[in-house]
Amino acid sequence: MGTKFTSLSSFLIFLFCCYHAQAQAPNTTGYTCTANQTTSPCLAYAFYRAMAPDFLDLASIGDLFSVSRLMISEPSNISSPTSPLAPNQSLFVPLTCSCNSINSSLSLSFANLSYTFKKDDTFYLVSTNKFQNLTTYQSVEVVNPTIVPTNIDIGADVVFPIFCKCPSTTGLQNQSSYLISYVFQPSDTIPSIASRFGSNAQSIVSVNGDNIQPFDTVFIPVSRLPTLSQPTVTAVSPVSPVSVSPPERNDRKGVITGLAIGLGLCAFSLILVGGLWTYRETTRKKRRENGGDEERQPKGRGGKGLSKEAQMNLMADVSDCLDKYRVFGIEELREATDGFDRRWVIQGSVYKGCIGGEVYAIKKMKWNARDELKILQKVNHGNLVKLEGFCIDPEDASCYLIYEYVENGSLYAWLHNDKKEKLSWKTRLRIAIDVANGLQYIHEHTRPQVVHKDIKSSNILLDANMRAKIANFGLAKSGCNAITMHIVGTQGYIPPEYLADGVVSTKMDVFSFGVVLLELISGREAIDEEGKVLWASVDWFLDVKEGKKEKRLNRWMDDNLLQESCLIDSIMNVMAIAVACLHKDPSRRLSMVDIVYALCKSDELLFDVSENGLSPLQVVAR
Ligand SMILES: *[C@@H]1O[C@H](CO)[C@@H](O)[C@H](O)[C@H]1NC(C)=O
Ligand SMILES: *[C@@H]1O[C@H](CO)[C@@H](O)[C@H](O)[C@H]1NC(C)=O
Ligand SMILES: *[C@@H]1O[C@H](CO)[C@@H](O)[C@H](O)[C@H]1NC(C)=O
Ligand SMILES: *[C@@H]1O[C@H](CO)[C@@H](O)[C@H](O)[C@H]1NC(C)=O
Ligand SMILES: *[C@@H]1O[C@H](CO)[C@@H](O)[C@H](O)[C@H]1NC(C)=O
Ligand SMILES: *[C@@H]1O[C@H](CO)[C@@H](O)[C@H](O)[C@H]1NC(C)=O
Ligand SMILES: *[C@@H]1O[C@H](CO)[C@@H](O)[C@H](O)[C@H]1NC(C)=O
Ligand SMILES: *[C@@H]1O[C@H](CO)[C@@H](O)[C@H](O)[C@H]1NC(C)=O
Repeated sequence: MGTKFTSLSSFLIFLFCCYHAQAQAPNTTGYTCTANQTTSPCLAYAFYRAMAPDFLDLASIGDLFSVSRLMISEPSNISSPTSPLAPNQSLFVPLTCSCNSINSSLSLSFANLSYTFKKDDTFYLVSTNKFQNLTTYQSVEVVNPTIVPTNIDIGADVVFPIFCKCPSTTGLQNQSSYLISYVFQPSDTIPSIASRFGSNAQSIVSVNGDNIQPFDTVFIPVSRLPTLSQPTVTAVSPVSPVSVSPPERNDRKGVITGLAIGLGLCAFSLILVGGLWTYRETTRKKRRENGGDEERQPKGRGGKGLSKEAQMNLMADVSDCLDKYRVFGIEELREATDGFDRRWVIQGSVYKGCIGGEVYAIKKMKWNARDELKILQKVNHGNLVKLEGFCIDPEDASCYLIYEYVENGSLYAWLHNDKKEKLSWKTRLRIAIDVANGLQYIHEHTRPQVVHKDIKSSNILLDANMRAKIANFGLAKSGCNAITMHIVGTQGYIPPEYLADGVVSTKMDVFSFGVVLLELISGREAIDEEGKVLWASVDWFLDVKEGKKEKRLNRWMDDNLLQESCLIDSIMNVMAIAVACLHKDPSRRLSMVDIVYALCKSDELLFDVSENGLSPLQVVAR
């Protein structure tokens, strides 16, 4: 009887414990919220540890959380945002935290971060490794109801809900300013984290309950961000974070090393431009606030509150940039586009607008314009669309880049829009040479090298004389950040090695350029309605015997070119160049220098047969 009683009671105790644990354990699907009970959206911070091999610099962590280096370095007490981090180095990463309604009965509190899937990623691995358990795979599933977790394409964008909380609006008089999302480690106790973050155990329990398990996210209320004491990092060459990665094929390593060296330089200019905006935004905000009561501004908001001294230094550093570009006012742009009226849309978020009698193309971006601005500032070439100025609208957290307006629109429209008159082969070839010259310039004559990453016919614009200019450097940033970038680009133009490994090199642009050549020759789109890519349809060119090639090419190429006579040699040459650009092994693709040379040869062939064409040299030496 006695033993029975004991076992019964232990069973009851067991039951109770279980029940207790279940009731208290945070939900793996996320943390529920009620929109009207919190000050949502709000600024929150995630506590993150630098981690080998991929997250040992602020650039890659910034990429992961969609914030700039400065936005992490400022709140984390790091004075030089470009230097490598030590493993386990502590960081505060700012989050925009909000209450998101998932369905009629469920609202979850999280920061909405978009993550682009890479090879070998799963919801579980990305949540537990890259995001260090700041979210759970269950929550990722709930937030992405349309994505089948077992079948995710590389390059797909997935929302990762990073757990966070906003201070509540009700109750307590003395409220905390932020809640820090912290992943509870096996060695932690509530008092230990309270003292570490300058909070108190009682308030941590009141927010999180008292049954905190290892690897749960806990929210630590603080009135101000504690200052992290950082190890003094000795100057290390910028290559070092890269050398941690496993040995690679030789050619690839060369590329990566080259780009990594560029990284340091790039990062520097990035910070300058970032600083300019920070400065401008801060001054504007102050102006708006009229009284300029600095105390009222939350300290360290998103890392945007720089000290006066830092602002002055940055201002001095970017003065070059200010001279070079016109800074437009948002009112000017509104007027030029009738308040960004749909009528003035050229494409996507690019508007046509007339300011002071000049026509411009105005591109609206979120804050990420920094990268494009940084690259455009470095390049200046007749075959690249010119940046004229920029504009910042802090109220809308938007930035505008203002470019020269290129009259004749995109090559894509000329090739694939039936309404346009058909381009002659001569014009097509000249366009190809223009684009090749522009690419040669960014690959060979900019330091560090720039990789455009999104060469396609819709990013090639034609001016009044049908000369080509490369536009849209929006993705080009990754040229200097080669290891951490997301898979971006356009289907039909992306080379296979990039999809597989995410390796960025100039050979990536060469591949995409090869696809553009195929478009010029065939008049077909890079990807057809059935999703078949154009570049996969030219294997015949290498297989067919010499004698039959011409016949086969005649069948494959644009019918509109057939009517022009005596071109086939020139077209055949360009076809051979295109096929050489599309080699599966990037190291065996031509370089832009070879391509420019070979295209000019094709142009000479054309010159031989046409009576009054431009001299090929004139065409090249613009
Ligand atoms: C966990 O989920 C249950 C039901 O789904 C809900 O009643 C409870 O409030 C949630 N707890 C937390 C901490 O969000
Ligand atoms: C918040 O919203 C809920 C329903 O959405 C409502 O029942 C509640 O009264 C609201 N609370 C406040 C403080 O407005
Ligand atoms: C970093 O932290 C992990 C886990 O907490 C630990 O195993 C590792 O030894 C630490 N590394 C360094 C360099 O402190
Ligand atoms: C997260 O952001 C993306 C794009 O920024 C948006 O499409 C999506 O609806 C957001 N998800 C939630 C749950 O707010
Ligand atoms: C995340 O949690 C899992 C257990 O749920 C643990 O194995 C893993 O080490 C944690 N990741 C980090 C980076 O702490
Ligand atoms: C809301 O979503 C949650 C998580 O996906 C699910 O468990 C719940 O049944 C849904 N509720 C409604 C009313 O659809
Ligand atoms: C409010 O602040 C006072 C002192 O500033 C402190 O003694 C008290 O514990 C705080 N209350 C809460 C609930 O944090
Ligand atoms: C900031 O970090 C430095 C080392 O980089 C450290 O010496 C200093 O004490 C830290 N600042 C504070 C206020 O802890």
